[in-house]
Amino acid sequence: MFVVVGVSGGIAAYKTVQLVRALVTNGHEVHVIPTDDALRFVGTATWEAVSRHPVTTSVHDDVAEVRHVALGTQADLVIVAPATANTLARMAAGIADNLLGVTLLATTAPVLVAPAMHTAMWEHAATRDNLTTLRARGVHVIGPADGPLTGGDSGPGRMSEPDEILAAALALLPAGDATAHRTDLEGMTVAVSTGGTREPIDPVRFLGNRSSGRQGAAVALAAAERGAHVRLVAAHVDEGVLAEALRHPRVEVERVSTAAELDAAMRDAAAGSDVVVMVAAVADFRVAEVSTEKIRKEDGDGSLTLPLVQNPDVLAGLVAARRPGQVIVGFAAETAADDDELRNRGRRKLARKGADLLAANRVGAGLGFEADDNAVILLAADGTEATASGTKRAVADALWDAVASLRARRRG
Ligand SMILES: Cc1cc2nc3c(=O)[nH]c(=O)nc-3n(C[C@H](O)[C@H](O)[C@H](O)COP(=O)(O)O)c2cc1C
Repeated sequence: MFVVVGVSGGIAAYKTVQLVRALVTNGHEVHVIPTDDALRFVGTATWEAVSRHPVTTSVHDDVAEVRHVALGTQADLVIVAPATANTLARMAAGIADNLLGVTLLATTAPVLVAPAMHTAMWEHAATRDNLTTLRARGVHVIGPADGPLTGGDSGPGRMSEPDEILAAALALLPAGDATAHRTDLEGMTVAVSTGGTREPIDPVRFLGNRSSGRQGAAVALAAAERGAHVRLVAAHVDEGVLAEALRHPRVEVERVSTAAELDAAMRDAAAGSDVVVMVAAVADFRVAEVSTEKIRKEDGDGSLTLPLVQNPDVLAGLVAARRPGQVIVGFAAETAADDDELRNRGRRKLARKGADLLAANRVGAGLGFEADDNAVILLAADGTEATASGTKRAVADALWDAVASLRARRRG
C-alpha cells in the first residue's frame, strides 16, 4: 500500500521513525511529509533513509511531478504522527500552505492522526473543538495515552506507541491488502522501454518525437517497488525523469539512441523476463542514408528530399520471440476524437501486433506526451478492459494490476 506519513513538530517525532521503519518492513511504500517544525526534531536525512524516498516540506519542490497533489491522490492511507495541536488546528481549518496541508486536502484515503502534546494543550477547548470537527469528517484518532510527559509532569498527551499506531493503520486498509499488495511482483523480472528514439539525419540532426519517458519511468519504478527486478531500456530520457528509478536497487538502466539499438536491447532484456512492457515511442522510419557530413542549405536548390526506410517493428519482434507464459504489453499513442475511436484503434493494433495487453492513450495538445497526467484504456487480448487515469504513476500501478489479473486469469 502507498502510505503517507505526516510528521509535525513534537518530541514524539523520534518515535515515528520506528513507525515508518515498521511500515517499510511490512512491504508498504512510505512517503514522509514533515512540517518545517518537525525537521527541528528529526531531520530530512533520517526520514529519507528510513522511508527510502526523497522528503520535502514544500509544495514548490518537484513541481514537474505535481507532488503537491500526487502524494495525496496516490495514498491508500495517510497517518499524521505526531499530530501537534497546531497541525490539528490547521487540519480542522483546511489550511494548505505546506506540503502536508495540501496532501491532506488532496487525499480521499483514510486519515489517522496520533495527537501528542502537553495535557493542558490537549484539554484546551480549541483542541477539543478541532478534534470534534476532524472526527465528524471521518478522521480516525489514536491516543493520546496517559503517562509521563517530556516536561516531567504526567497526564493525557503522550503519543501512542508506534506498534499501536501501526495496528490501527493496518486496520484501516482494505481487507487482504494490509501487507500483500505492494509485493505482488516479487521474484519476477520485467523489461520496460521508455523515452523516444532518435534517427540520425546527419552528424547534428535527427528525426525524433516528443516522448519524455515519464510514463515508462513510472512503469519501471512501480514494478520495482512491487518487488520485481526491472531492466529499463531508456531512449533519450532526462536524468531528472529517471532519478527515482536510477536510485532503486532493483532497476537496471540501459541507455540507447536509435530504434535499432532499442530493438536489440529489448530483445536481450526480454529473453530473461516474465513481462515485457514497450512504453518507448519508437520511430517508424529512419533516413535511408545518413549523411556523414552536415547537410548545408548552400549545397541544395531550396528543397531537400530525405528518403526514409521503415524501422523494425520492435513490439512485433518481441511477440514473435515470446517465451512461454511471458506477458507482452504495448502502448499505443493515438490521436483519436473520443474513447470509442481510441478503443477501436487500440483493439485493431492489439490484434495486429499479437500482444497480450495494450495501453491505448490519446495524444495531442496537452495530452499524453510531456504531460504529468495520463489517461489510458487497458485492452487485454482476452476481451477484458480497464481504464486508468491520473498521475503517470497511478496509470503505471493500474497497468501492473491489469498484468497481475491477466496472469491470474491464465492460471485459472
Ligand atoms: C521542545 C518542544 C516540544 C514540543 N512538543 C510539542 C508537542 O508534543 N505537541 C505540540 O502540539 N506542540 C509541541 N511543541 C510546539 C510545536 O512545535 C509548535 O506549536 C509548532 O508551531 C508546531 O508546528 P507544526 O504543527 O507545523 O509542526 C513543541 C515545541 C518544542 C520547542
